[in-house]
Amino acid sequence: MARQPIARPDFGGPFPEHIAIIMDGNGRWAEGQGLRRVFGHKEGIGSVREITTECARMGVGSLTLYAFSVENWKRPGPEVRYLMSLLKKFLIEERRTLMDNGVRLRAIGRISDLPAGVLEELRRTEELTKDNPGMLLRLALSYGSRTELADALRHVVRDAKDGLIAVEDVDEETLRDYLYDTTTPDPDLLIRTAGEMRLSNFLLWQISYTEFYVTDVCWPQFRKTELLAALRDFAGRKRKFGGLIADVAPPRRAKES
Ligand code: FPP
Repeated sequence: MARQPIARPDFGGPFPEHIAIIMDGNGRWAEGQGLRRVFGHKEGIGSVREITTECARMGVGSLTLYAFSVENWKRPGPEVRYLMSLLKKFLIEERRTLMDNGVRLRAIGRISDLPAGVLEELRRTEELTKDNPGMLLRLALSYGSRTELADALRHVVRDAKDGLIAVEDVDEETLRDYLYDTTTPDPDLLIRTAGEMRLSNFLLWQISYTEFYVTDVCWPQFRKTELLAALRDFAGRKRKFGGLIADVAPPRRAKES
């Protein structure tokens, strides 16, 4: 199928180049329907597909989805196994849609924690999509921000001990170069579904100047209409990045990949 032309909605203000989403409320949505929690995760795949496709067609540069946190391993075994099987299925079945929409897929997190079969399909999908010219879809998998910072710190210390970097030269830019993804610009907009007002250990370093949008809608019901509402809201934000002039660029953006 040919790629759809990019149609960026114009709400008369800024448009986010990078959107990050905390996809919450799958369990609550399912329970509200009288279903078991896992049906919420299943239905949530439909939202992942629709939001990824819409973002790609609107010309969003990067979309980061919090799909599985380091803390999620603490959930009951059957739920974790179900989520892993859904992820594997997604990585296989969505290849066509990703290719049709020119989307590159990349994972961030402690990827080596994933079951071997999931890891294999992840690497295959990353490899297949790596030269696509469109949006970057980042899946945060076995991801935790504190873990990411601890991993980065360990690497910094090791490189300093090996004489590869000088301790006195370590600054913000150095730290960024040791995070899981060194090239993607920070998110402009962070969306959280299902109403909770917390960050849940997600991209703590990267969202220093990100705009937040929280909606009561649960993830399985977050579709194009809800995405457009978030984009409309974002268009009305005045971003100052700690300065006084609205709409100025942040002090530094990461290199584009
Ligand atoms: C939170 O809902 C959601 C998750 C823990 C995982 C999100 C996973 C999906 C949307 C499906 C798999 C995704 C991919 C990309 C394959 P919750 O269970 O915490 O909901 P609750 O707060 O209502 O209990």
